[in-house]
Amino acid sequence: MNPYLPHLATIQEIIPETASQDVKTFRVVFTDPEIRRSFTYQPGQFAEVSLFGAGEAPISITSSPTQEGYLEFSVKRAGVVTTALHYRQVGDPVGIRGPYGNNFPYRDMEGQNIVFIGGGIGLAPLRSLITFVLDPANRSRYAGISIIYGARSPGDLVFKWELERWGERDDVDLQVTVDRGDDEWTGRVGFVPQILLDLAPRPDNTVTVTCGPPIMIKFVLQNLEKLGFTPAQIVTTLEMRMKCGIGKCGRCNIGSSYVCQDGPVYTYEQLRKMPAEY
Ligand SMILES: Cc1cc2nc3c(=O)[nH]c(=O)nc-3n(C[C@H](O)[C@H](O)[C@H](O)COP(=O)(O)OP(=O)(O)OC[C@H]3O[C@@H](n4cnc5c(N)ncnc54)[C@H](O)[C@@H]3O)c2cc1C
Ligand code: FES
Repeated sequence: MNPYLPHLATIQEIIPETASQDVKTFRVVFTDPEIRRSFTYQPGQFAEVSLFGAGEAPISITSSPTQEGYLEFSVKRAGVVTTALHYRQVGDPVGIRGPYGNNFPYRDMEGQNIVFIGGGIGLAPLRSLITFVLDPANRSRYAGISIIYGARSPGDLVFKWELERWGERDDVDLQVTVDRGDDEWTGRVGFVPQILLDLAPRPDNTVTVTCGPPIMIKFVLQNLEKLGFTPAQIVTTLEMRMKCGIGKCGRCNIGSSYVCQDGPVYTYEQLRKMPAEY
């Protein structure tokens, strides 16, 4: 079978996430019931999402394997494909190939506390794992769950209804922050790396999973080290430029590592051994 051939899917729901609508979540359903049944994925994987006449782009699967029957992608309007997708309507077709890449090491995380640290649209890949570990079938396998999430402004926070649900749970410590508030904002104001330092999660038996803009990641990594986390306790996911998604074109490599296959999920310990191209 041609590995570049996408499966046909239909947009079932579109959720505008941000006030400016530059991020939207698309729920899609495979047209072929057999593909709907057989398409399986793990938290952290991505798919190549294609639009006829526009092209394709790698996008994290933000839904969780525990949510059956559909896939969700949260997409920021950035260039050709993502802008075209933002103009699509419910009922329109999209192509999906994948799932690609490795996944978050959720089996190794069992029994540990997990601290999720996200910035902006960087919550999208984390959401798949958060939903997975909070699922009633999985929750008892994990210890404490903390989520530190920030965006530039209240209007830039994504998954607002999900944040509300997580915040209501007794077994989740959710901390939401914005770089600058507005008249209605009564929550935290401050940058994610600083909030992380203030909250000072303890490193014993804890793994952190982080995704966000490069500048946030840079300071989050520094601050996690200050708090005593080792590079092996820090997991992140990369968004390199990609084309094929299947290890053929050489577009995504960092040194000898093909991010589309060996990644996009890496520990900081692994990243430190790679050339600093990410
Ligand atoms: C594993 C992975 C997961 C991802 N997950 C998500 C996700 O969940 N949500 C999401 O929104 N995005 C995600 N991305 C990022 C997304 O794939 C990119 O933003 C992608 O480029 C969008 O495609 P596009 O055709 O819309 O943009 P492009 O047309 O490729 O443009 C993207 C940006 O790059 C600039 N650009 C384009 N071409 C060049 C060039 N030649 N030189 C310099 N700059 C250029 C554009 O100006 C624009 O700012 C992910 C990427 C990876 C690798
Ligand atoms: S995107 Fe082609 S090799 Fe990774």
